[in-house]
Amino acid sequence: MLHEIKASRSNALPNAQSELLFARGRSVFPDGTTRATVERDPTPRYVMKGEGAYLIDVDGQRFLDLNNNFTTLIHGHGFAPAMDAVSRLLRDGTCFSNPTAHEIDLAELLIDRIPAIDQIRFVNTGTEAVMFAMKAARAFTGRSCIAKIEGAYHGSYDWAEAGQGSTPFTWGSPEAPIAVPSYVGTPPTVADEVVILRFNDAEGARRRIAAAADRLACILLDPMPSRGGLIPPDPEFITAVIETARQHGILVVCDEVLNLRQSYRGSSARYGIEPDLIAAGKIIGGGFPVGAIGGSRRVMSVFDGSTDRAKVAQGGTFSANPVSMVAGRVSMEAMTEAAFDRLEAMGDRLRAALTAAIARHQAHFVISGAASLFRIHPKQTLPRDYRASYPSPQEAAAVKAMSRFFINEGIILPAGAAACLSTAMTDADIDKIADVFERFLATTPSSNGEARK
Ligand SMILES: Cc1ncc(COP(=O)(O)O)c(C=O)c1O
Repeated sequence: MLHEIKASRSNALPNAQSELLFARGRSVFPDGTTRATVERDPTPRYVMKGEGAYLIDVDGQRFLDLNNNFTTLIHGHGFAPAMDAVSRLLRDGTCFSNPTAHEIDLAELLIDRIPAIDQIRFVNTGTEAVMFAMKAARAFTGRSCIAKIEGAYHGSYDWAEAGQGSTPFTWGSPEAPIAVPSYVGTPPTVADEVVILRFNDAEGARRRIAAAADRLACILLDPMPSRGGLIPPDPEFITAVIETARQHGILVVCDEVLNLRQSYRGSSARYGIEPDLIAAGKIIGGGFPVGAIGGSRRVMSVFDGSTDRAKVAQGGTFSANPVSMVAGRVSMEAMTEAAFDRLEAMGDRLRAALTAAIARHQAHFVISGAASLFRIHPKQTLPRDYRASYPSPQEAAAVKAMSRFFINEGIILPAGAAACLSTAMTDADIDKIADVFERFLATTPSSNGEARK
């Protein structure tokens, strides 16, 4: 059993300037900030600036950043080649109603690398990318429903949100998971139009997809959902999803908004998935807002409005703005195969070091993740799905204590302990993360109850 872990004092570091800003923020924003995901304990740390792998807060503290704006900044903060290219561009204009060569440059780079993408369209966020991919699947198949993985986060489109915040009190039986709405007032029809699958449950996926087959436009699949546990997919599960989808003319939409960072060709290719559509975002904008929908010519033709009204009219005032396109292209060009290999080697080394520390301390933790992503679970064994990775109140307290320990040691470990590396990090940074984790374990009662010094 996991013994209670005493959280170290929150905000042990100076934060007077952050407190002042938060007081101002609270009077103008409903919860003091403008994103549900901003971390606070209880005050958020306001940032002064970012510098490579580090960021500096308004109180002058320097932190190794394992959040990287929710995995977006694959090169860390202020990646010089992208910033230089954007600086040169700014005076020529930041957005036009006309197309630019910059959007073609980024499109060609992505099409060249990602096997499932023959054609592409740009939007401004991952939420939009997922939304338009789902609309495209609906328009292509003439069906309205979607299937998705329990607990997986895909942004804020109503149907993509269903089941993302399921809890033990709401998620229903293992055989028939419920499409729990994400917010009060969600139209009840949304739940009727979403089929929830459990990650790595091959038999359940076959059964539930087949049962709803004539209504399903697509299966929305993140190959390694971060909120689902950042757990690798079983090959049998992938096969079950793809085979059943193909049997019934259902499209497979891979949400690679986060996991495109897993390899030069993305995560579908890495896990042997051949999706009909891919939603991308985050790293392909080089630190600026971006999203993309890509796929086979046949399916992407739903966006073609050249001769008739497009089946799906996809616009967006800032879509394909040259700033995001240029920053994205320059950042992605720097992500050569060798750069991905180096990031993956750093990730492997870190995961191995964390796992070894857990073994030395017989601690109640386990490590998941791949490539530049890792997650520290307060669990004895590696979970296989969202339900198994869902923390008990005691386990959630252990993770919170760990994040506090890390912040007081100068490392930002995101809530839920799902984190990422950047090319700006060095071997010394990896050693520092492993060292802080080891020291956290040393101050923590072990799983068999003995306090370790
Ligand atoms: C897998 C996945 N899909 C979609 C989104 C939504 O992207 P955005 O925040 O750019 O709207 C996210 C964001 O974290 C994500 O991780």
